[in-house]
Amino acid sequence: MKANIVLLPGDGIGPEVIGAARMVLEAVAAKYDHQFTYAEHLIGGCSIDAHGTALTDETFSACENSDAILLGAVGGPKWDDPTAEVRPEQGLLALRKGLGTFANLRPVKPHPDLLDASPLRPERLDGVDFVVVRELTGGIYFGEPRARKSIAGGVQAIDTMSYTDGEIRRVAHLAFKLARGRRGKVNSVDKANVLESSRLWRQTVTEVAAEYPDVELEHTLVDAAAMYLIQRPASFDVMLTANMFGDILTDEASVLTGSMGNLPSASLGEGGPGLYEPIHGSAPDIAGQGVANPIGTILSMAMMLRYSLQLEDEAQAVENTVDAVLSAGHRTKDLAGVEETALNTEEMTELIVDQI
Ligand code: IPM
Ligand code: MG
Repeated sequence: MKANIVLLPGDGIGPEVIGAARMVLEAVAAKYDHQFTYAEHLIGGCSIDAHGTALTDETFSACENSDAILLGAVGGPKWDDPTAEVRPEQGLLALRKGLGTFANLRPVKPHPDLLDASPLRPERLDGVDFVVVRELTGGIYFGEPRARKSIAGGVQAIDTMSYTDGEIRRVAHLAFKLARGRRGKVNSVDKANVLESSRLWRQTVTEVAAEYPDVELEHTLVDAAAMYLIQRPASFDVMLTANMFGDILTDEASVLTGSMGNLPSASLGEGGPGLYEPIHGSAPDIAGQGVANPIGTILSMAMMLRYSLQLEDEAQAVENTVDAVLSAGHRTKDLAGVEETALNTEEMTELIVDQI
């Protein structure tokens, strides 16, 4: 098949992990006889440096007209001034919003040979296999008003947590459909004991659940969910939650897999291209050293093959290869134990490419 893929390396380790995923993708294309074309564009801090804005019209329209987008990471200390008008993260948020990718899927399934890399006891990790469905284009990330203003005797800053029933409904449907193809359980995470938006969330999810009698629904408060993720992570199947709760809980959940460098994500809407990115950030502390773990991005690319290009066999081939390379004991620095030798990004990528 033919596909037009936009690569957005972004900042920090972004270019390193995108370079790695592109090499694996090229190996997939060669093996399965696909014609993929690639266009690279700026986003985030590098776009601010070049154009004064984190997302140009040119980058956005290239994304909008593509079949799928693979993104590295945005941000870094250079652009972290809290009073700055333009921030790298604005580019990513504008892209998600502009593309309408309201559902962000973040699968969490520790590799059996990486249990020692997690701070949890191995028996706690037994059977852990869940997906977080994070609402991605609403909630406190986008709510209005947002402002900073002078008040008598000080300064006030405001963010707004806002959800409409429509925003909740569409992401809930996606979560229930996903659960049907899995173990048939949705855990909806909110803060309904305090927040009005969470009470609407809970009510709407309950209404949607009536259309899926074969799927079991449980509601969990977000503070308790944070605890259960450590205490009994294997009890989750599909975790459905709002934008900011999902952001926080998926960093926590990534630790179950041994490193947040392993975790991929897919951001999907209704039609239009999907956006695929690892959940980790730009990791400025290791950027430019060639030691970043490329697995989160390579697995995001596998999700792209599955969800945007409908190439299930190819997606599985990539996932199986990553599994095999980890089973053979190969580790990047973030995963290696004290006694183990760590591979750099290029060495890890070459092993995966060779086995595709
Ligand atoms: C993520 C990241 C982003 C988010 C940042 C970079 C804006 O933390 O994808 O989890 O908060 O959504
Ligand atoms: Mg995050």
